[in-house]
Amino acid sequence: MTDHHTPVTVLGLGSMGSALAAAFIEAGHRTTVWNRTASKALPLAAQGAVHATTITEAVAASPLIITCLTTYEGTIEALEPATAALEGRTLVSLNSGSPAGARELAEWVLGQGARYLGGAVKNVPSAVGAEDTLLYYGGDKTVFDEFAPTLRVLGGDTVYLGADPDLAALYEMAVGGTLLPALVGFFQGAAALQARGLEAASMVRFSTKWFEMINSVLPIFADEIDRADYTKPASSVNLFLAGAAHDAALGKEANLDITWHKPFHDLLERAVEAGHGNHSISALTEVLKNPA
Ligand SMILES: NC(=O)c1ccc[n+]([C@@H]2O[C@H](COP(=O)([O-])OP(=O)(O)OC[C@H]3O[C@@H](n4cnc5c(N)ncnc54)[C@H](OP(=O)(O)O)[C@@H]3O)[C@@H](O)[C@H]2O)c1
Repeated sequence: MTDHHTPVTVLGLGSMGSALAAAFIEAGHRTTVWNRTASKALPLAAQGAVHATTITEAVAASPLIITCLTTYEGTIEALEPATAALEGRTLVSLNSGSPAGARELAEWVLGQGARYLGGAVKNVPSAVGAEDTLLYYGGDKTVFDEFAPTLRVLGGDTVYLGADPDLAALYEMAVGGTLLPALVGFFQGAAALQARGLEAASMVRFSTKWFEMINSVLPIFADEIDRADYTKPASSVNLFLAGAAHDAALGKEANLDITWHKPFHDLLERAVEAGHGNHSISALTEVLKNPA
């Protein structure tokens, strides 16, 4: 197992990369930082980080390199000048992106004679370092075991998913898929309340309870999906389709743009056409497996 104070390099100092670097500094790691736009490294240098002015210098400074650029492609592009320095080191990526992008980066890193672990931070920058903050990793298990104590500095809920280097990217996207639809729904609700002179803040307590209800039914839906048995619905596809008219009525009354509902309603109708009208709403999973 690696010493708790493994020197670490963080490449990419946007909102997330800066939070990662700050957590390592706080935990007492010798932390070297690099960013394409050098000025973003200055606050971290003031906190005790070593500011590398070239990416080669940054890579050469530590056995463990954490990358948090916007994309996998950008990560390869930025690392091109530092390939010689990468040999024998370990690179852990913590950006979001597609599983294909993660596989491409993994292959590229291994091709430079370095080891690779693909990770993802499932939270916002301000949560980095907290006990229940979730980060997951996929790839070389020996790398995970060796650096787990260091990686736990970034979040106490640190999970190893398996040997495939793209697993963190896959779970990141699979889990993250709820974010935009859920938030747009919340924003629509806020707009409907404001149309009546009410504050968005007045619904937060109720929305929170609503999300708790959604949490509570996820294991039930997952079980239905894994067994492909949708025949004992608590809420059927037809029930959701009946609600479509209510969306339209509220949109009209509150003068809202509710066009974002249309693809969801189309999906419900395709489920009915496929014979899932009286099945559980989780049967939409089957429709999603068959792109129109
Ligand atoms: N912020 C969040 O809430 C959050 C949460 C979970 C995951 N993430 C993921 O973490 C990653 C970084 O997010 P962020 O919020 O830190 O983004 P950000 O604030 O926009 O920072 C992006 C970083 O990537 C660098 N970069 C992009 N393309 C580059 C290139 N071709 N060469 C060199 N550097 C390049 C930027 O350098 P410059 O400063 O020079 O432009 C900057 O350091 C993303 O994949 C994001 O999805 C973010």
